[in-house]
Amino acid sequence: MLSLRGDYSLAASDYSVEQDWGAYTGEQHALFRRLFERQSKLVPRYACPEWIAAIAGLDAGDSIPRFDSLSIKLRAKTGWEIVAVPGLIPDEAFFTHLANRRFPVTVWLRKPEEFEYIVEPDVFHDFFGHVPLLFDRVYADHLYEYGKGGLKAMRLAAVKMLARLYWYTIEFGLMKTPAGVRAYGAGLISSGGELAYCVVDPAPKRLPFNLEQALLTGYLIDRYQSTYFVIDSFEQLMRETAPDFTPIYARLRELPVLAP
Ligand code: PHE
Ligand code: FE
Repeated sequence: MLSLRGDYSLAASDYSVEQDWGAYTGEQHALFRRLFERQSKLVPRYACPEWIAAIAGLDAGDSIPRFDSLSIKLRAKTGWEIVAVPGLIPDEAFFTHLANRRFPVTVWLRKPEEFEYIVEPDVFHDFFGHVPLLFDRVYADHLYEYGKGGLKAMRLAAVKMLARLYWYTIEFGLMKTPAGVRAYGAGLISSGGELAYCVVDPAPKRLPFNLEQALLTGYLIDRYQSTYFVIDSFEQLMRETAPDFTPIYARLRELPVLAP
């Protein structure tokens, strides 16, 4: 964890920290507001309906949100809560939080010069991209199942495969809607450039979701995706990820990883 940006020195054993909302500066709230405003112009056209429905109830955008008030709303709707973390956390801590319906959100915000692009997830990505969908019952249940599946994948030494699925769904997933393809992946919804790209650009492939293909397809973290997987609905995602992955991991382990 040494090369990560956050301050891990005060983290508890589950990697949680205090949000310390009062410590954010006026400049940081203003930067968050600018990120929020820019992205808010894009989401009506490119984000999935579930995300759009949820953000309306959040009364967000004026400042960096308070995680405790988000948790109150979330608990009431889907039983989830937000836990503040210093940044990326180890697999086991991450999966354990999800398996307890706790979503880890990074406390720090990017710098102004990182407005367009940031390598590590910050509070804007985590909040804007991930949190609204936790208000959707099926999505929220799926992420809880994913958390349990992650702990199981650790025992089966299959975290790499499961991480590819996460990448192609939770981070960069597309969904078919009556209005056309829309984004539900957090990496897309929080991105200034890729959100429109993933929906309208002719270059990338948009394949129907296929579990085994997603588990086996490698990915690049430093450019727009060249392949997206399109789900029909969160119910479909739930259904297709419900089977026991143990035999699937055993079979796919023998196969070469597919190019992105
Ligand atoms: N069904 C998977 C397993 O048995 C767990 C899982 C659920 C993985 C949901 C991803 C999403 O390992
Ligand atoms: Fe993310």
